[in-house]
Amino acid sequence: MTGIDTSPPTAGKSGPVPIGPSGAQGLWGGRFNRGPGALMRAINASIAVDQRLWREDIEGSKAHAAMLAAQGIISSDDEKAIQEGLDAIGAEIAAGQFEFSEDLEDIHLNIEARLTERIGEAGKRLHTGRSRNDQVATDFKLWTRRALLAASHSLEALQIGLVRCAEAHADWILPGFTHLQTAQPVTLGHHLLAYVEMIARDDRRLRAAWSSADECPLGAAALAGTAYPIDREATALALGFDGPMANSLDAVSARDFALEALGALAIAAVHLSRLAEEIVLWTSPQFGFARLSDEWSTGSSIMPQKRNPDAAELVRAKAARIAANSAALLSIVRALPLAYSKDLQEDKALVFEAFDSFALMVGAMTGMIATTTFDRAAMRAAAARGFSTATDLADGLVRALAMPFRTAHHVAGAAVRRAEELGLSSLEDLPLAEFQAIEPRFTAEAQALLTVEASVAARLSFGGTAPVRVREQIARWRQELGIEEPETKEPGMEDGQ
Ligand code: ARG
Repeated sequence: MTGIDTSPPTAGKSGPVPIGPSGAQGLWGGRFNRGPGALMRAINASIAVDQRLWREDIEGSKAHAAMLAAQGIISSDDEKAIQEGLDAIGAEIAAGQFEFSEDLEDIHLNIEARLTERIGEAGKRLHTGRSRNDQVATDFKLWTRRALLAASHSLEALQIGLVRCAEAHADWILPGFTHLQTAQPVTLGHHLLAYVEMIARDDRRLRAAWSSADECPLGAAALAGTAYPIDREATALALGFDGPMANSLDAVSARDFALEALGALAIAAVHLSRLAEEIVLWTSPQFGFARLSDEWSTGSSIMPQKRNPDAAELVRAKAARIAANSAALLSIVRALPLAYSKDLQEDKALVFEAFDSFALMVGAMTGMIATTTFDRAAMRAAAARGFSTATDLADGLVRALAMPFRTAHHVAGAAVRRAEELGLSSLEDLPLAEFQAIEPRFTAEAQALLTVEASVAARLSFGGTAPVRVREQIARWRQELGIEEPETKEPGMEDGQ
């Protein structure tokens, strides 16, 4: 569909081209004797990237043409021809029948040239009172707004998958880590809901970026506005914006909408990479907590036993690239004087790549979460190791014996040391007599609180890991995300019946 040669320019093509009616010179070459050389054309052309803006470009042109006619700037006959021509071009592109030309630089000139080819003189009137500078800012802003909404929707699907998985494992116990060292037992439901919370904030950031991109650059023209009596309010509203941007210099040079989008996307991607990393750890033979489905595993060409978590690893790495794209666009905009400079043409590849990667990342995470199986016994055993209930022992001494916490901490530490001497790895296995040798008032009831089940059940504080708290949060998320009740529910048992 592109018809573009993406190979590097060769010596044979390096001479300047004679100026002629075709190519971009046909659209802007009036003051030149010769056209640009091959390398100039190669560095200047953006059509390979910005052809993705074709829908937005046609939409923007249609709104502009309608406004020009309504304002009496072009005739209604010309407007009609332009509208029909643009629709026909849209159909050509959608059908893959459009020949994109690198000589026509970008999507704007490609479409405009084709329009004139199709409808003649009227096509040449479309660019009245506008510039590619406000045109590209408008197209790109429209595209970014749509991409933000699509990204936001995709995150909702992942959240739903995480909530379902959390519900199925609300009270399954695994070690909670600090410093990647066993800290205290937590429930898998609780762990997964941590990501649901993060992603909810990510979603809010994406929507906030959408909301702040609510003003339309179109009509700012090259940088200073235009002498034609245009109606910027009309084009802004026709394109779904709340209104026009109030300063023409700002309108053509601002890319903070893209920076905000990339920033929000980078944070969300980094969050996905943390979950991806946990999948890598959990599915490793060393942890053995989880197993990826065949669908989401890859094998090794030499080691027959392998089940590699490639998708999770790629999510990790793609997050780095999205963060890098965000940094790259910040650096492009940094210190750029007003108004438009061609530096800004490099914005689109960064944003397109980031959203493309993000879609793959969210899809992969959603797929992995839906199909990963967890090993309850292995997780429980790991949760008990490393004396993970030592805090519970100290808390128990505080509660039962009114011991000050610092003293209790010390006593619990002695119990851990004793267990270690005996070659045990869990306080669950230390005999009662050993506890009593350290603290004679220690009881069997107190010992019963040192299981990982008792440990998580005790953490009832709001936001804590106790299964009852986790189930409350699951119920809240079910409501929030509009998740149907589980299928196991009997018919006729709906609320209120
Ligand atoms: N292809 C350009 C871009 O993406 C369009 C704007 C060109 N403006 C200009 N003054 N050459 O930024």
